[in-house]
Amino acid sequence: MKHMKLAGVFILSLWYSLVDQTLASNDEKSNYLLSVGDIGARRLEVMDRLIGAHTRDAIKRVVQSKERIRIADIGAGDGSVSSFIASECGDECLPISLFDQSTKQLETAKEKLGEKALYIRLDILNSEAVTEYTGQFDVIHVRCLLMHLANPQQALQNLINMLADGGYLILQEPITSSAWANQHSEIFEAMNQALLVIGKFNGGDWDIGSSLETMIEDFKEVSITASWNSNSTANAKETKDLLGLGIKELEVPATNIANIDIEEVEKWYRTVMSLDQDSAFEYHLPTQSHLILKKNNTKF
Ligand SMILES: C[S@@+](CC[C@H](N)C(=O)[O-])C[C@H]1O[C@@H](n2cnc3c(N)ncnc32)[C@H](O)[C@@H]1O
Repeated sequence: MKHMKLAGVFILSLWYSLVDQTLASNDEKSNYLLSVGDIGARRLEVMDRLIGAHTRDAIKRVVQSKERIRIADIGAGDGSVSSFIASECGDECLPISLFDQSTKQLETAKEKLGEKALYIRLDILNSEAVTEYTGQFDVIHVRCLLMHLANPQQALQNLINMLADGGYLILQEPITSSAWANQHSEIFEAMNQALLVIGKFNGGDWDIGSSLETMIEDFKEVSITASWNSNSTANAKETKDLLGLGIKELEVPATNIANIDIEEVEKWYRTVMSLDQDSAFEYHLPTQSHLILKKNNTKF
């Protein structure tokens, strides 16, 4: 018994050192335009505080506590959502499998989740690499990932392939053009237009939430069990936190890709940062489109 425990500890520490080595390697070249690692995590944490209640509502519809199910969070980013899934489902579901193409994101997520998760670097567009996980998961969660991809249909096919029969895919993607502010509207409109242009640069679509349901019609292996939109607002302080970080991250793509003068981008930043904390200012974040899909037990 003692030997078995020692062997277990040895295998576990070997596994963790292998993960550490994987995380220590440099990020590959990526099409992802936003920041990864600590800088990106700060913005993702703010965003999660603002839209997270809706995400959690979607997860609770599928994940009941104390169920023994295999869960993956794909394009997991800083692990904010995975942390919630881990607490919602409890030990029965651990470890959760966190997938991201970025080692820096996985490192940041590991600081939050530690041994509660496995950290796997994977490009969801790489069908060959995904084959290893065919039929492996009962629940897959994806938030704000498809919007960044040049081939979201391929990603959807790969995600569906990773689901076990009867498994659920929880999707949440934004409709960026729907965002608006109740003050300084021309600045916010200009920023939104720029976001859509920047998003398209690598073949992405930051408005993908509006076409998600139609895209799903191409996949006969899944049926939609629920579909709805959600809205969130930010006050002046929250807007400064979110857009202040976002504008800084997108300064280079805004000037290089959307051909916007740096002075203009600096003006956006100053406008956002000068918002009066006590005003009635409200920023209506991009509407989020939510879909819950179930993989049919019968193969087509
Ligand atoms: C906007 S973040 C969303 C993070 C997290 N899902 C959330 O909502 O907080 C998008 C994440 O997708 C990852 N990503 C981008 N392209 C990817 C790809 N082809 N395969 C896997 N992950 C990818 C990025 O590294 C980033 O962590």
